[in-house]
Amino acid sequence: MPQDTPKDTLFQPLKVGAVTLKNRIVMAPMTRSRADNPEKTATDLTATYYGQRASAGLIITEGTQVSESGQGYLYTPGIYSEPQTQAWKKVTDAVHAKGGLIAAQLWHVGRISHSSVLPKGLPPVAPSAIRANATTFALDGNDTPGQVPTDTPYELSAYRGIPTVVFELAQAARNAIEAGFDLVELHGANGYLLAQFLSPDANQRTDQYGGSLQNRARFVLEVIDAVAAAIGPDRVGIRLSPWAPQFINDIDGTIEAEEMTLYLGAELEKRGIAYLHMAEWGENIYPDGFRQRLRDTYKGAIIYAGGYDQAKAEALLETATADAVAFGVPFIANPDLPERFREGSEIAVADKATFYGGSAQGYTDYPDRNGNAV
Ligand SMILES: Cc1cc2nc3c(=O)[nH]c(=O)nc-3n(C[C@H](O)[C@H](O)[C@H](O)COP(=O)(O)O)c2cc1C
Repeated sequence: MPQDTPKDTLFQPLKVGAVTLKNRIVMAPMTRSRADNPEKTATDLTATYYGQRASAGLIITEGTQVSESGQGYLYTPGIYSEPQTQAWKKVTDAVHAKGGLIAAQLWHVGRISHSSVLPKGLPPVAPSAIRANATTFALDGNDTPGQVPTDTPYELSAYRGIPTVVFELAQAARNAIEAGFDLVELHGANGYLLAQFLSPDANQRTDQYGGSLQNRARFVLEVIDAVAAAIGPDRVGIRLSPWAPQFINDIDGTIEAEEMTLYLGAELEKRGIAYLHMAEWGENIYPDGFRQRLRDTYKGAIIYAGGYDQAKAEALLETATADAVAFGVPFIANPDLPERFREGSEIAVADKATFYGGSAQGYTDYPDRNGNAV
């Protein structure tokens, strides 16, 4: 048992746009690479996995590609076809049956891809035809799954390519609502397509989508507007990762990090977007006072993620600059993480070997705090 009475800050309900979370413990989006089927659908095992974690205030799914050309890795699920949408319905049903809420993370990888996972072996698409110094999990020259260098992308055209991707994201958001998701989260973090547009390295366009900070933000805001028009702004969140280090998919996240984040925060505020999810890569990465400045700019729910434990999460919530904290790895091995926090139970350590790929092992077979199957 813990020495002190557990604080209850994490267990206060929280309004996030159209829904109210029962607690402020969010499950962070985590790719688990188990959609090893031709249709690239979530599976029954996916439904079991998320259903087991329904005591989270909100579950955010693994990144889910919004189109064939938005895929970057083998075995990740999609949300652009009818079978995929129907398969996600089983997942949202499993979570709702246990009183949980679930958001779909909508993912377009942009240039972080390889022709072996793209339709007809085409290259990836991106703001500019600049290859990322990064790898992805795809098929190597011998058709064997493994880490392979990303391909050089095609530049999306402003008159056709960009509107097509905006449309795909909006359609995926509609599919998510049809599948029963409570919210959608746009993946604007970690060097994928949205983050590529924001970055002056990956985005060297000379049209209205490149150059100034406002121009680089234009694509992301067009996506937000299209998705909000499709499903309502109170069902839309976005994940960002300012100050992410270069090794995260070859984007220098420090460039104009604060200016861009506060600009986007102000634009989200104008649009009444449900939440802003900040992925932190490392401790103390933010300049002094940044969280307060973001809080002053954007009044919707702010979620932080990255390396939190219960004590750090409680301390952050007490500053009133954050509304909720997302936990990634802790949710892998602790399906009942909120109950463990509440009761002060031991936190199990996840096995990294089973993070990606495989089947039930290391996915749905972690027991609850009493050692019972969940
Ligand atoms: C196995 C694994 C897969 C991940 N996949 C995603 C993903 O699909 N989308 C995303 O935005 N972040 C992804 N992340 C990052 C997590 O959401 C989270 O930000 C990170 O793990 C740090 O939080 P933690 O210390 O609580 O685990 C992934 C992390 C892990 C460990």
